[in-house]
Amino acid sequence: MARKAIINDVGPRDGLQNQAVTLSPEQRVKLIKSLLKAGMDHIEVGSFVSPKAVPAMAGTDRVLAALDDEKGDFSVLVPNMKGYELARDAGAKCVGMVLYGSDGMARANVNMSRAEAERVMEQILQTAERDGVRALATIAVAWACPFDGPVAAGTVAGITRRFLSLGADQVVLADTIGAANPEQVRELTTMLVNEHGAKRLGCHFHDTRAMGLANVFAALESGIRSFDASIGGLGGCPFAPGASGNVATEDVVMMLEQMGYDTGIDLQELMKASQLAGALTQNAPGGRSKAWLEGQFSKSGNLHDQVRA
Ligand code: COA
Ligand code: ZN
Repeated sequence: MARKAIINDVGPRDGLQNQAVTLSPEQRVKLIKSLLKAGMDHIEVGSFVSPKAVPAMAGTDRVLAALDDEKGDFSVLVPNMKGYELARDAGAKCVGMVLYGSDGMARANVNMSRAEAERVMEQILQTAERDGVRALATIAVAWACPFDGPVAAGTVAGITRRFLSLGADQVVLADTIGAANPEQVRELTTMLVNEHGAKRLGCHFHDTRAMGLANVFAALESGIRSFDASIGGLGGCPFAPGASGNVATEDVVMMLEQMGYDTGIDLQELMKASQLAGALTQNAPGGRSKAWLEGQFSKSGNLHDQVRA
């Protein structure tokens, strides 16, 4: 039996939140549906954050409403209690809480200290439990922070222990700025898998320094089987040359499938989602595998016509 791996596409949130082009909720839903069509069943569909801070995520309530009849494990990011309440009231069944490996990142993102953010997330977790809403906990800058530098593994281990024992469904280690290398990923993931097992751990990598896939592989070797990725490699700040998005979903799926893992995702359909991401944003570089994959599929069918239809 094939070994299973779970890909959670965060393109509709992490990928779209700082594009030059702002998509309408309807366009975001179209992208999400193209992912569902490819067999993707874990998707971060948006966030409940201040529309002043992140205009691109305005209308996430409408996105959720439009997905009401769809089958899938949809999560939405919430940075604070207000975001949680808005998410719950919009019918979210799973929220993504954000914790921080550093004070600098917590301040920049939500104007709180790292410890304050932990207290708020703990309150969210307790409220979510009462409300019957599942909660995931992502630890941002789990290896390195653009403001405070390297993050100690002990800090991340402490947050992981606390939030797993409080009942978070999963703790996701995020290399928010794509600064970690595979050796560092191996060290931290081995340590945490030894302590907790791999089942409730996940990883989230950015491809800024072209180490996204190598980092996925390092985490995979530690036993991690759950990965965030972004369709078309969407993401990165258009105003920061060289900054890049999450590791591309097509790259991660291709590597895992070729290694014999079952992701449940149809690569040919996924390439249509990737092309749609590119058409909608004008800024989806696609994974490193995109040109090769498109070449394969253009030999076997009229992919381009199908995407235009
Ligand atoms: N959703 C929508 N609006 C929110 C909100 C949320 N989750 N949290 C706060 N607000 C609103 C407040 O109601 C207030 O509105 P007003 O100016 O009309 O009165 C305003 O935002 C400021 O609220 P305040 O509590 O003072 O927040 P702040 O200015 O200290 O912090 C955040 C700002 C946290 C709201 C904002 O920085 C944010 O949304 N950050 C998220 C960034 C993000 O998404 N990062 C990427 C994902 S990790
Ligand atoms: Zn990210």
